[in-house]
Amino acid sequence: SLLENVRAKVQRGLLPQWAFTDPDVFQAELERIFAKTWNFLGHESEVARPGDYVTRWIARDPVLLVRDAEGKVQAYLNSCTHRGTKLCTADFGNKKAFTCPYHGWTFNLAGELTGIVAGNKVYGKEMDRSQWSLRKIPRVESYQGMIFGSLNEHVEPLETFLGDMKWYFDLMLGRSDHGMEVRGIPQRWIIHTNWKISADNFGGDPYHTAMTHRSTVELGISPKDPMYASYGYQIVLDNGHGINIVTRRKDMNVPPFQGLPQAMWPMFERNLDPVQLDVFRNTMITVGNCFPNLSFVSPMHGTGGPDEPLTSFVNFRVWRPLTPTSIEVTSWLMVDKDAPEAFKEASYLSYVGSFGPAGTLEQDDAEIWTRVAEASQGWMTQDKDVHYNNVLNYLMGLDRVEPDPSWPGPGVAYPTCYLDAISRAFYERWIECLLDDAI
Ligand code: FES
Repeated sequence: SLLENVRAKVQRGLLPQWAFTDPDVFQAELERIFAKTWNFLGHESEVARPGDYVTRWIARDPVLLVRDAEGKVQAYLNSCTHRGTKLCTADFGNKKAFTCPYHGWTFNLAGELTGIVAGNKVYGKEMDRSQWSLRKIPRVESYQGMIFGSLNEHVEPLETFLGDMKWYFDLMLGRSDHGMEVRGIPQRWIIHTNWKISADNFGGDPYHTAMTHRSTVELGISPKDPMYASYGYQIVLDNGHGINIVTRRKDMNVPPFQGLPQAMWPMFERNLDPVQLDVFRNTMITVGNCFPNLSFVSPMHGTGGPDEPLTSFVNFRVWRPLTPTSIEVTSWLMVDKDAPEAFKEASYLSYVGSFGPAGTLEQDDAEIWTRVAEASQGWMTQDKDVHYNNVLNYLMGLDRVEPDPSWPGPGVAYPTCYLDAISRAFYERWIECLLDDAI
């Protein structure tokens, strides 16, 4: 079949360009990836108190994530059980109950239908309200404060799905005594591209920094070497996940632990094992993707020009598929709860200036990803490889760069970040999902 043909190409480091924008592929992705796997919904600090809620999405399913009266996190389909109205339209808030704007049905934090306008008069006593509770998202689990939901009640446990990514999440999210908190309101914006283009970029493409982001090196707000993103390890993990760990080099004068305040270092020793501690000490940047569409970047970025120190931050973002050529980005800045307030603010400003929607690096990327989608919708590129040679190049390092067995962490680590190994693994996982007959 067509998709088996794609698999054969992907295994050779090639991707047909039509796979970015083909409507049938997009539909298959909604059905066989986003409806089946774990999707990131939010961080526990966003719903810290009973009644706190945020509204999120799993692809096209609206989700109401709420802390109930007992303190448990619940996720409901954000759609009234009467006529289907989207129940809650605010991004976040705190409520004791949710009242539908259409006919006024009211649901408590446990999702139970507690109020009906003109209740017994119109429905009679016999209507069993318990039948009309909000519909629950079938599975909700969390790791290091990161809450995920799945529409598939038979999905594997979240920790199994994350696999070795957990070890690297620990470095970013589990190094402090009290974990992380979301700072500011998560930002949302739309990019006219396909979700795979952005996920693949964060997951496996440090190669683009030398060209796409060169102006930030020239301005002195990125590390001073244009090749900075190549030094380190590209690490292929199970299930299509991947992470690049860009290591600090002595000649770059980068401080240990990504420049996090020295007062925090004893805490890192308490919370990380010695191997993790050593890796984190020598890390300058982490960037990667948790399959399918949860990406993260923890870089060092400057806000004050070439003579100012660079400040690190931790940013997670979801690339929500809207159409084959549009995504909604939701982007969270996370900071250690135990960090000094001055560092939290500096970290937030560093994020806003680089990877917020108006940030330098973010705009560089969005412009390029839009161009990829724009150039992938025509007659030639949509041709199913019959008349034209329509495959794109994911060959970097294939059969040439060998894994480095001395890497102390989990996963298959290659001794450079200029490599397409994670991208190849990402697309292999993607095509396996699309071809899975069990679905
Ligand atoms: Fe919600 Fe009617 S649709 S109360």
